[in-house]
Amino acid sequence: MSEKTSSISGFYKLPVDERRKILSEFSGLTLEEIETLEKTGSLDIDVADKLIENVVSTLEIPVGIAVNFLINGKDYLIPMAIEEASVVAACSNAARMARLGGGFTASATESIMIGQIQIYDYGNLTELQEKILNMKSEILDIANSKSNTLVKLNGGAKDIQLRRLSDRARSAVLHILVDVKDAMGANIVNTMCEAIAPVIEDKCHCRTNLRILSNLTPHRMAHASAVFPKDAIGGEDVVSRIVLASDMASVDPYRAATHNKGIMNGIDAVVLATMNDWRAVEANAHTYTHISDSLSLTRYRATPEGDLMGEINIPISVGTVGGSTNAVPKASLFRKILGVKSAREFSEVLASVGLAQNFAALRALVSEGIQRGHMSLHARNVAITAGAKGNEVEEIAGAMIAAKRISVSYAAELLKKLRNN
Ligand code: MEV
Repeated sequence: MSEKTSSISGFYKLPVDERRKILSEFSGLTLEEIETLEKTGSLDIDVADKLIENVVSTLEIPVGIAVNFLINGKDYLIPMAIEEASVVAACSNAARMARLGGGFTASATESIMIGQIQIYDYGNLTELQEKILNMKSEILDIANSKSNTLVKLNGGAKDIQLRRLSDRARSAVLHILVDVKDAMGANIVNTMCEAIAPVIEDKCHCRTNLRILSNLTPHRMAHASAVFPKDAIGGEDVVSRIVLASDMASVDPYRAATHNKGIMNGIDAVVLATMNDWRAVEANAHTYTHISDSLSLTRYRATPEGDLMGEINIPISVGTVGGSTNAVPKASLFRKILGVKSAREFSEVLASVGLAQNFAALRALVSEGIQRGHMSLHARNVAITAGAKGNEVEEIAGAMIAAKRISVSYAAELLKKLRNN
């Protein structure tokens, strides 16, 4: 039987140092590893300890700036937090090409979120529907009593809908439509749902189960489009191959998963840099393809002049107020650099980044393939992992690429040779 146990009562109550001690013993950490664990950046460990539970450290991710973005006539420098090589470079390069066609044109709808209340044991659905519709203003009042701020901003709960679900769900669902303005909105929508549910139970003689926002936001959409001039992107053949690739993604789930992943490479990186909920953004985007007429979030066509016109239509729920967006100093800083004034503008930027990232991936895929660019950046990472410093990184990476042999052991071998010379 193992002497170690992960059943540690009161772990959450311990000071960070004590947690680290337990962790070090459990995982057999060396002194050097403990020092690495203890290192933090601008996010103070005491602040981190308040944000989540059982904190032992913080994690740094590289943040790069995507350049060249012109969106609705405004220039943006876009912070992207991501561990994957090539993403920031590809995004900037795509934005440069879009700029030659006039930049991105983007728009976003109002920030309408949906709160869901699952209703069961209701007897007759038609009768339930009638009762609930008669209660509409009461339901909206209860919801709006939970947020003076939203109501003052002309936001708050606006409408309700009762949806019938398939028999397997054994329930119906009440949707509360809430304009959350510049917030992501999860907290306020959940609070509203929890306040409404008992009143529904009481007045409609039914029972309620789940009371939670939906992360699918078809009423909170962002759209961006751009024209990529054919001469800037490799000619008519590239245009028609990108259209062909995008048509495939619109119908084939296996390709759509990868195509949409490429879009999210860009969007997630900006969402993470500003400490928004990227899991919500991901879930939203991918689930949306189940209710849209295409499995792909973007589409492309040739313009009458033969250039490439790309567009993205994507649900996005991100905030510029609330959540962790202001608690983490660098998240506020990156939002300042991004320079967005509202959640809507933020969504427009994200949609443009998603389109740029997707275009860059498709262009590489339909021409030289992505591995050449990927591998040279990957080679640098491998060289760093093997211990290369400063100029050694490029030298070792170049030698590995030339030899078509990219591995940590080969990099270490090359490094040894280089240092012995
Ligand atoms: C890699 O992270 C993303 C791509 O696979 C996206 C795509 O295939 O469109 C290159």
